[in-house]
Amino acid sequence: MLKIKGLDKRFLVNGREVVALQNIDLDVKKGEFITIVGHSGCGKSTLLKIIAGLQSQDVGTITCHDRQILGPGTDRGMVFQEHRLLPWLTIRENVGFGLQGIDRKEKERLVEDHLRLVQLEGFGDAYPKQLSGGMAQRAAIARGLVNNPEVLLLDEPFGALDALTRIQMQKEVLRIWEEEKTTMILVTHDIDEAIYLGQRIVVMSARPGEIKAVIPVESSNAKDRGSTEFASIKKRVLRHFFAEEEWAAVEYAI
Ligand SMILES: Nc1ncnc2c1ncn2[C@@H]1O[C@H](COP(=O)(O)OP(=O)(O)O)[C@@H](O)[C@H]1O
Ligand SMILES: [Mg+2]
Repeated sequence: MLKIKGLDKRFLVNGREVVALQNIDLDVKKGEFITIVGHSGCGKSTLLKIIAGLQSQDVGTITCHDRQILGPGTDRGMVFQEHRLLPWLTIRENVGFGLQGIDRKEKERLVEDHLRLVQLEGFGDAYPKQLSGGMAQRAAIARGLVNNPEVLLLDEPFGALDALTRIQMQKEVLRIWEEEKTTMILVTHDIDEAIYLGQRIVVMSARPGEIKAVIPVESSNAKDRGSTEFASIKKRVLRHFFAEEEWAAVEYAI
């Protein structure tokens, strides 16, 4: 469904060229859950922003259902690390903000359905500052899904949450994905999160950001953080971040 081919992106920082992305190729199937993992600064956010149409690539193409992505569109929803809800609007108004060109009744129905989906029914009249971090992120997910996008792009969506809320939100996102069957691409620097959520894990290298490996998570046992499958996938992912001579010590520690 989503096809990324030969993508390059450079930035000019103080007159110096920074290669943010190099030769990125990735095909994402409809309904798939892809996680992208890599060091801070490896170009993960840049890649998501290019898919969202918020930034443009220097070289390469991205198509969604064979249509070139040339700018933002309602076929792609986005959730950021900070919820980015508008503080002067209620949760209901925030979720419905991007819904345009449909009648009021239909809009109300869609907003209520999505508040229910993220288990925020009863909080429609609250303002963002009245919600906890986890609840605000649920609202951001509802806002991202309300247009029924082809793909939801999540950029370290739980990065600002405490560890327990984070685990709870990971479960919630899996439930929502199973219910809605929306294609999801989630970026994280947390390897456990990438394994828990992804059907395929895209491992990126540090600058220049390239895809080092795509690791499938085949067995459903791998979703159990205590399983040997989980540990073995974790090793496969970690292996890409360490040099040969460092690996023995790292492998021993995990
Ligand atoms: N708007 C920008 N202008 C200049 N450099 C940028 C810009 N956005 C990102 N970069 C640079 O591109 C690289 C990748 O950034 P980013 O995609 O944010 O990484 P990540 O999300 O993996 O932490 C970094 O070196 C960053 O400094
Ligand atoms: Mg980032």
